Amino acid sequence: MRRKIVAGNWKMNKTLPESLELAENLKKELEGQCLCGVEVVVAPVFTNVYAVAEALKGTGVAVAVQNIHQMKSGAYTGEVSAPIAKSAGATKVILGHSERRQYFGETDALLAEKTDAALAEGLEVIFCIGEVLEERKAGKHFEVVEEQVKNALFHLPAEAWKNIVLAYEPVWAIGTGETATPEQAEEIHAHIRAVVAEKYGKEVDEEVSILYGGSCNPKNAKEIFAKPNVDGGLIGGASLKAADFKAVIDGFKC
Ligand code: 13P
Repeated sequence: MRRKIVAGNWKMNKTLPESLELAENLKKELEGQCLCGVEVVVAPVFTNVYAVAEALKGTGVAVAVQNIHQMKSGAYTGEVSAPIAKSAGATKVILGHSERRQYFGETDALLAEKTDAALAEGLEVIFCIGEVLEERKAGKHFEVVEEQVKNALFHLPAEAWKNIVLAYEPVWAIGTGETATPEQAEEIHAHIRAVVAEKYGKEVDEEVSILYGGSCNPKNAKEIFAKPNVDGGLIGGASLKAADFKAVIDGFKC
């Protein structure tokens, strides 16, 4: 069964005290609340993962890292590997974010390696895909996301997909205040689903959650999450305030 997931990507925001404050506030917001089966995830910066994971212990909120290196250990100054992230309390990793692709030159081939490294450690992968504005204007968005999925993930055996979550994040909607319409999200999610089903069959497809990301906020979450092929959200700006993040999660209210 597809899971409902709302994940907060804190990006390069929040010092250690600020991260702890946000975690504590989130804890308060979620206390005694019915989450209607929604899994909640937060992704702080590396240095704050351990403290945030400790602070959120017992709450059911999972902690993700925003990246990993593809090697397990070694002379890679400044990098963090999957086993190191896991030992700090992360159970998931966001890979393929457009900011990593754009500013750090991450390619599909590299992301395939990082995915393997994460899965080998039992980290769940939240794998981001999405087109830039020019690609959408040229009508190439279906093709672009399809290639991203195929190039980075289609080498995986079917059973590996139980640890893969996809996140469709149109680059033109990230941090811009401009959101894909629920219909735009739905049609591309349905397409991605069909691409996965064609390769792996219905069984895998029916298990894979596809999140939407890109200026998702308390005002538009409910309408976006209501679409049949949208299984949740990957939230940037609106995850930096506990009340806003909770309001996004409430987009799933039953
Ligand atoms: P915003 O919600 O700030 O647009 O960011 C989305 C995103 O990039 C989440 O990974």
